[in-house]
Amino acid sequence: MTEIPGSDVASWERNRLREEVLDDIDEEIELELDDVRLGSDSDRGTPDFRRTYFRELLTLQGELVKLQDWVKETGHRLVVICEGRDAAGKGGVIKRITQRLNPRICRVAALPAPNDRERTQWYFQRYVTHLPAAGEIVLFDRSWYNRAGVERVMNFCTDDEYEEFFRSVPEFERMLVRSGIQIVKYWFSISDDEQEMRFRARMEDPLKQWKLSPMDLESRRRWESYTLAKEIMLERSNIDEAPWWIVPADDKKKARLNCISHLLSQVPYHDVSKPEVRLPERVFSPDYIRQPV
Ligand code: ADP
Ligand code: AMP
Ligand code: MLT
Repeated sequence: MTEIPGSDVASWERNRLREEVLDDIDEEIELELDDVRLGSDSDRGTPDFRRTYFRELLTLQGELVKLQDWVKETGHRLVVICEGRDAAGKGGVIKRITQRLNPRICRVAALPAPNDRERTQWYFQRYVTHLPAAGEIVLFDRSWYNRAGVERVMNFCTDDEYEEFFRSVPEFERMLVRSGIQIVKYWFSISDDEQEMRFRARMEDPLKQWKLSPMDLESRRRWESYTLAKEIMLERSNIDEAPWWIVPADDKKKARLNCISHLLSQVPYHDVSKPEVRLPERVFSPDYIRQPV
């Protein structure tokens, strides 16, 4: 065993701190390698662009931490709705938003298809339980808008239920907003070709095959119906209190940066002053040690 010479302790510590920071950045690189593994995004993967992307992302994530502190401090309640076609990149953006945040403050609601009991409830009921309390951010990976999208296109709901949804949804969201919840709604928009390419990549990749559901394949067959359903949805649920924002998403990295910086622009957060943090001194007293009885 080699002792570290005393005089080198400071530089050893600095190196360890540096390693720790690099390790943190590696986490993002791991996610990124995943993108390039099968050649998807390869044309956008030039070293220059990647470097800019990393730098931008880390800056934005730093701002998200400030936003989080502000949300906690002020008791703000924030709902972010992420909608879009399959493989549009909703999951990727959500991952980057939550990556550096406290899961007790910022969490994701990604509900499965409703079970038999939920099907008999008021349509919005199962979503309501996931709404934020004071000082919380909830990111919906798909949301109550399922009724206007997948449920409409795949005939999982009746025409009456569909109409009732559009009568309810503006009222429902206005109630939330009046109660003090902020709602930000994003539609991730991808082209036909890009979706096909991403599905092909998923089919070939054992790490991604789980993402490809029978629903996804059917949604390609019904591309046109989805387009119509999306247009109706955006039109009928675009209210002043909670407007839709369209994120062009054929370029995943730009979509992430655009979406996060837009989100930051929607929340009136500012730096929250925090007391300086110091590591406490270790206390040792024999009184603290007790024999088990
Ligand atoms: P995702 O793309 O979100 O990983 P899927 O492609 O499997 O998941 O399904 C898309 C959406 O359709 C999900 O939000 C799911 O809950 C919904 N869904 C699937 N089957 C049904 C159903 N029978 N009734 C209502 N919604 C359903
Ligand atoms: P989305 O917002 O996900 O519907 O996708 C928008 C992208 O798909 C844009 O690039 C559009 O040009 C393209 N698009 C939308 N509808 C159609 C359609 N009916 N046929 C071909 N391309 C379409
Ligand atoms: C996405 O990439 O948009 C989400 O992960 C949804 C999906 O897997 O289809």
